[in-house]
Amino acid sequence: MEFSRIFMISCSVFLLCSSLAYGQAASPPAPAAMSPSPTPAPAPAPAYVNLTYLLSVAGPFHNFLDYLESTKVMDTFQNQANNTEQGITIFVPKDSAFKALKKPSLSNLSNDQLKSLILFHAMPKFYSLADFNDLSAKGPISTLAGGQYTLNFTDNSGTVHLNSGWSKTKVTSAVHSTDPVAIYQVDKVLLPEAIFGTDIPPMPAPAPAPAPDVSPSADAPSADSKGSASPSKSSQSTSSSHRSRNLGIWSQLVLALLGGWILFL
Ligand SMILES: *[C@@H]1O[C@H](CO)[C@@H](O)[C@H](O)[C@H]1NC(C)=O
Ligand SMILES: *[C@@H]1O[C@H](CO)[C@@H](O)[C@H](O)[C@H]1NC(C)=O
Ligand SMILES: *[C@@H]1O[C@H](CO)[C@@H](O)[C@H](O)[C@H]1NC(C)=O
Ligand SMILES: *[C@@H]1O[C@H](CO)[C@@H](O)[C@H](O)[C@H]1NC(C)=O
Repeated sequence: MEFSRIFMISCSVFLLCSSLAYGQAASPPAPAAMSPSPTPAPAPAPAYVNLTYLLSVAGPFHNFLDYLESTKVMDTFQNQANNTEQGITIFVPKDSAFKALKKPSLSNLSNDQLKSLILFHAMPKFYSLADFNDLSAKGPISTLAGGQYTLNFTDNSGTVHLNSGWSKTKVTSAVHSTDPVAIYQVDKVLLPEAIFGTDIPPMPAPAPAPAPDVSPSADAPSADSKGSASPSKSSQSTSSSHRSRNLGIWSQLVLALLGGWILFL
């Protein structure tokens, strides 16, 4: 009887010892898995938009491109696109629009006039198609040609109409519309009153226009994907190491008591 009691006690002492050993083994806290701190994303540099390239692959806009190069207005446009916060909006007539131009023709213009006429086809700010709704109410809008070279806009249920006095036309498609560069194709060369005077020829009766093929601007807001820091696991692991240390102290106490009891027996 006495022996079996001692055997049971030594068994429990052994169990307690092994549990203590386990507690000590588990006690050094496992290094918390360090979640990498989110590195702040660098401010994205505005993507370079090569206007020459864009205009040479769309259209055809060869006439307009030739004028842009010969007047060096391309440098002004590209600089506006490269180096300003406001950006640029360009109205580009197709080659057929230049072909249709008989009276008045551009052949008599001085170099300065020609340069102004080409500058007249752009505004020193990026406008998405949706922005023209607001511009309609604002009266004459300045162009890169400055001064008297203004355009009037009307937004007729989504179709943007332009009025330069001599030319009444509309945007027929969006070639490019991502801040800071908007390029819209127009039906006619924009002839400014400031060059051709106010003796504006009467408008021919408007022909039934085919439905405009205006593709929506491609400037979908890019999802702001901020990396959120995942909650650190360190608090969890410290609390579990606390628990195992407490268990260690507790089993040492019990062991001491048992040891005393065995000695007493
Ligand atoms: C822009 O595009 C044109 C036509 O593709 C090319 O000749 C020119 O080298 C490009 N410019 C730059 C700076 O990439
Ligand atoms: C516009 O930026 C491109 C690329 O950085 C550069 O090659 C070109 O010379 C710049 N043009 C102007 C007019 O600033
Ligand atoms: C262009 O010049 C010719 C001859 O110099 C002249 O007859 C014609 O009226 C001019 N056209 C315009 C639009 O100024
Ligand atoms: C533009 O609109 C203003 C009024 O807002 C008007 O006085 C002006 O004549 C218009 N210009 C053209 C070219 O239609």
